[in-house]
Amino acid sequence: MKTMKAVNIYSYGGPEVLVYEDVPRPHPDAGEVLVRIHAAGINPVDWKIREGHLREMLHHTFPLVLGWDLSGVVESLGSGLARLKAGDEVFSRPDISRDGAYAEFIVVKESELALKPRSIDHIHAAALPLAGLTSWQTLFEAGGLSAGQRVLIHAAAGGVGHVAVQLAKWKGAHVIGTATAKNHEFLRKLGVDQVIDYNTERFEEVVQPVDMVLDTIGGDTQERSWKLLKRGGILVSIVSPPKAEVAAEHGVRQAFVFTQPNAPQLDEIAKLVDAEKLKVIVETVLPLSDATRGQELSQRGHGKGKIVLRVV
Ligand SMILES: NC(=O)c1ccc[n+]([C@@H]2O[C@H](COP(=O)([O-])OP(=O)(O)OC[C@H]3O[C@@H](n4cnc5c(N)ncnc54)[C@H](OP(=O)(O)O)[C@@H]3O)[C@@H](O)[C@H]2O)c1
Repeated sequence: MKTMKAVNIYSYGGPEVLVYEDVPRPHPDAGEVLVRIHAAGINPVDWKIREGHLREMLHHTFPLVLGWDLSGVVESLGSGLARLKAGDEVFSRPDISRDGAYAEFIVVKESELALKPRSIDHIHAAALPLAGLTSWQTLFEAGGLSAGQRVLIHAAAGGVGHVAVQLAKWKGAHVIGTATAKNHEFLRKLGVDQVIDYNTERFEEVVQPVDMVLDTIGGDTQERSWKLLKRGGILVSIVSPPKAEVAAEHGVRQAFVFTQPNAPQLDEIAKLVDAEKLKVIVETVLPLSDATRGQELSQRGHGKGKIVLRVV
């Protein structure tokens, strides 16, 4: 039997439940692709799943390989596939209910894979699918953001935030972002029009009305954001479902987005990268065997851009 290195969990828990080990290599069934992973992005959802926060929703079984952001090369294909071929360089945010990408190989449905941007390496491509799809599905699908509109993006220097601000600028929006002072120059270079230090300023006191809020924080940040929305505006959260009755009280709309795999959207995102309209910032690269350290860093919640595991 062929084996591979992978990072598994056998129970929910702290970073100590991550096990770097040899496991059987998976096989692609009809409609599926075996990908040799070159790099895997780390996201907060990885440690949230590790700690069991999504167990009601996702019903994972153990052992479970974590990590749902990847870039790699097609190794082999199951039957019935014509779009991709062995050797293609691909990237994906695969189905989160199945084994993930902290591994040397993964089986992914062909419909969840797109050709990776040609102009960036696997490390950067692996940092992009989840943050890119989240940004696309919040700003454009749920929020309907259009040119000339004003959008407030919380945690603008984070993994999702720094991609979302660039996509919103590309769309022609006026972008306001929150971040600590050390990241303000970084955000200005990405094109953010107004940067707010959430430690020293009350954003609701310094921001003029907006058409959309992208809530990446929840709690008090979400509550204080309602009053900033223009009538008919929308609050889109990716962390805690906003209350419909609170939205109605403010005369605005609300949505909660749980990001879904989407190859056509990844194609659009790849085109923007290759056209130099979008760049992904990788702050930390670690070997696959150091996934524990990567998750600990992610869990601190103060990174700039992304953390990626190098597999090849
Ligand atoms: N629903 C979904 O499908 C979905 C998809 C993607 C992400 N998410 C969730 O969205 C959240 C953000 O994800 P991410 O990948 O962007 O995380 P991340 O990269 O870990 O975010 C880190 C950033 O958050 C900033 N931050 C921390 N506290 C803040 C506050 N009170 N106000 C403003 N900024 C603050 C930090 O800035 P400083 O260093 O300046 O403090 C840092 O830049 C996570 O909870 C994640 O699980 C959900």
